[in-house]
Amino acid sequence: MSVQVIVAMAENGVIGRDGGLPWHLPDDMQHFQRTTMGHPVISGRKNYQSIPERFRPLKGRSNVVITHDRDYRAEGALVVHSLEQAITEARRVNEDLFIIGGGQIYAEAFLQDIVDRIFLTVVHAEVDGDVYFPELGDAWQVVEEQFHPADVRHEHAFTFKTLERAPRDRTFSDPNGPTTK
Ligand SMILES: NC(=O)c1ccc[n+]([C@@H]2O[C@H](COP(=O)([O-])OP(=O)(O)OC[C@H]3O[C@@H](n4cnc5c(N)ncnc54)[C@H](OP(=O)(O)O)[C@@H]3O)[C@@H](O)[C@H]2O)c1
Repeated sequence: MSVQVIVAMAENGVIGRDGGLPWHLPDDMQHFQRTTMGHPVISGRKNYQSIPERFRPLKGRSNVVITHDRDYRAEGALVVHSLEQAITEARRVNEDLFIIGGGQIYAEAFLQDIVDRIFLTVVHAEVDGDVYFPELGDAWQVVEEQFHPADVRHEHAFTFKTLERAPRDRTFSDPNGPTTK
């Protein structure tokens, strides 16, 4: 059972501009499709509406959209009114789910401390934008990474990283073994 976040972030923390993405990186989009396929995806209402109509709901995945608006309807998607409700509904489908943004929803997920794994694409550029990914702090360690150079289809180089929680620094006494720090 894991709550996973997937995001592409510039080196200055920017993830969005004018209601959309500040870049066009087709191989990162493909990475997003491949990674999330078959899993429920949880989205804020603004991010959901930023997905071109012909691509939503995202196919092959249960789409869960969070809004305060009790009258909001999104054909083919489940509409809920809190992150907690979104996670409960997503888990009915598959225990391994993805939070796919945007900024507000990421911020709430980290505030609630419910994230187990982050699929982070670091876009090697500083870009202008109006939506930022929250500061991660040092609770995370990179367990996998793969570089993708800039090329004719990709204006920026980027690196796919997988981050998991670093073991928490805690002192405990195990009745079956030595005291461990
Ligand atoms: N680079 C990336 O990987 C990436 C990924 C995703 C998104 N983005 C970008 O991020 C931007 C969108 O992010 P955003 O922060 O503006 O918006 P968002 O997080 O996508 O959606 C915010 C909306 O979600 C609803 N919401 C949030 N918290 C809620 C709660 N606790 N209860 C009920 N509803 C709640 C509200 O909808 P209502 O207003 O309807 O009540 C709120 O206005 C876009 O530019 C998008 O392209 C980038």
